[in-house]
Formats: sequence, C-alpha cells, structure tokens
Amino acid sequence: MKKDFLTFSELTPADVKSILGLAGRLKSQRDRGLGSAVLGGRSVALIFEKPSTRTRVSFQVAVSELGGYPVSLSASELQLGRGETIEDTARVLSRYVHCVMARVNRHGDLERLAEASRVPVINGLSDLYHPVQVLADLLTLMEHKGRLKGLKVAWVGDGDNVCNSWAIAAALTGIEFVAATPKGYEPNKGALATASKLARGTTADIRLVSDPVEAVSHADCVITDTFVSMGFEAEGRRRKKAFIPKYQVTEQLMSKAKKDAIFQHCLPAHRGEEVTAEVIDGPQSVVFDEAENRLHTTKALLCYLMLGRAEYSALTP
Ligand code: CP
Ligand code: NVA
Repeated sequence: MKKDFLTFSELTPADVKSILGLAGRLKSQRDRGLGSAVLGGRSVALIFEKPSTRTRVSFQVAVSELGGYPVSLSASELQLGRGETIEDTARVLSRYVHCVMARVNRHGDLERLAEASRVPVINGLSDLYHPVQVLADLLTLMEHKGRLKGLKVAWVGDGDNVCNSWAIAAALTGIEFVAATPKGYEPNKGALATASKLARGTTADIRLVSDPVEAVSHADCVITDTFVSMGFEAEGRRRKKAFIPKYQVTEQLMSKAKKDAIFQHCLPAHRGEEVTAEVIDGPQSVVFDEAENRLHTTKALLCYLMLGRAEYSALTP
C-alpha cells in the first residue's frame, strides 16, 4: 500500500529512527553519492500554493541527487487554479509521476489529494502541519545532542503548523516537549490528542504552559517560528500585540535554558520579532545546519516512501 506523510503521525518510532539514520548517512562525505540512481526514471511533482525557498530548492535538489526528475509547479499554473477538482488532479498526476509533494493553504485539500492519489503524497506545509521541517529539526537535534530520547525541547511563541508536527514527533521519539503560547494561540487540539495518545507508555511528555521561562527551564533546545504564518497576514497586528515582547526569544530567555542549549528556527525568520538578532546570529543558533538538513532528510524520506522495502533496507545503516 502507498504511504503518505501528511502530519508526522504516519511514522512509527522505528521509521523515524531509520529515516534519520539514512539522512545522516546520505549527509556524510563518505556516503554523499549513495542512492544517486535509486529514483532513476521516476518523477516527483512539487506543487506550491504558497511561496517557498527551502522546501522548493531542497526537494528539487533531493530528487535530482537521487537520480529522479522533479516537476515544480505553482498551483495557479495548473488547471486547479481554474477549478479542476483536487481529485481529478490527483488521478491525473498519479498516471505521470511517482510521488507528489504539495504545499497547500488548507490541510483538508491535502487529505483529499492523498485520498485520490495512487502515489505517495508528502505535505510540504499546510495551515496545520509541517512534518518535513520537523524531520530536519530532529536530525539537527540529534547531531548536536547525540540522542533524542529524554531531551527537553521548549517551543516558544505561536502553536502553529511546525509546532503541531513537533508535538507528534516528540511523542514518537521520547522527547519532553513543552510549548509556551499565549492564550488563543495554542497548538491544534487534534494534533495534541494524537501526540498524547502516542506518548502513552513512552518517556515522552507533551505539555502546554503560558510562561516562556517555565518552558525553557532546563531545556536542551529552544525553538520558535514566525508570529505571522503565511495566510495569517490579515491578523498580523493583533498577533504581534499578543506575542511581543513576552514570547520573543531573547538572550535573557536563552539564559534560563541549559547552558549548552541550542536554538532552532525553521526560517524564514523575522529578527526583532519572534527572535532577536543576538540569538539567531549567536553561538547557540543552529538554524543553518537545520536548513541544510532539509535536503538530507528529504532524500531519506523520498527513499522511505518511494523504494521497495528491500531496496530501502539496503541503503539504511
Ligand atoms: N522552512 C521552510 O519550510 O522554508 P520555506 O518556506 O522557504 O520552504
Ligand atoms: N509557520 C510558518 C512556517 C514557514 C516555513 C508558515 O506557515 O508560514
């Protein structure tokens, strides 16, 4: 059966471990050319309803480095923009390409696309989830801390799409995940319910607080994201009022985390809003490692979703 990657909850803890292991291997100098022909003769459609730098470029390069052909499309260029249904688009694309990645305004549209598609569908960001980002965040965390299980990750700011996928990923990997958000900007209830269910019987602990200092206390990693996600521009002024200054990641807030805590941000960042320049450009920041890891984790994810079990296992360390 085809596999999709829409929220993060489609993976098991073992899947996450093997995808991150393969990503690390694909990244290493020694194995950089590994898998260079595995997608030979296969194409991946990359559909964008919203702007993108990292997702667009990392997916295009990832497909090319694996020997496949990326077809990058903006939704407005497709007949989708003129009213062709999502289902018909999915059925047609399934006859041409071997995988579809889509960045969409409404998560429900992605679910419809996946339902009607015969090939794997990957969420390249929706209003509710951004799972491909969190795979890169986990690899970055592992590189800097040597493990995932038992770490404390503090999310400060908007309980947005990245935060929702993070709650689920933390549950799968045994991370203590504490999100400090203002009232009205908490993570999605459905995502939290999924995360809580997955966390049962593991060392993971998913908690919501309102105090950023409480969240970052003893944290190994502090993460934030924009206060005004794509599609929420009309609420920009109201949002900034709710978040600034209490939920800004400043040097003072970072000083309440562990001494060796790292700072992550999916980018693009807004210096002086969700994070100060001193933090994002300072010694604790790993945001460019995180951006680079989008490429390696995407390559590993494509292998996981598109290759047969034996072919995939032969690549994994
Ligand atoms: N982090 C991220 O998804 O960046 P883009 O919007 O540039 O793709
Ligand atoms: N939460 C942000 C992430 C951008 C990569 C947004 O949706 O705009």
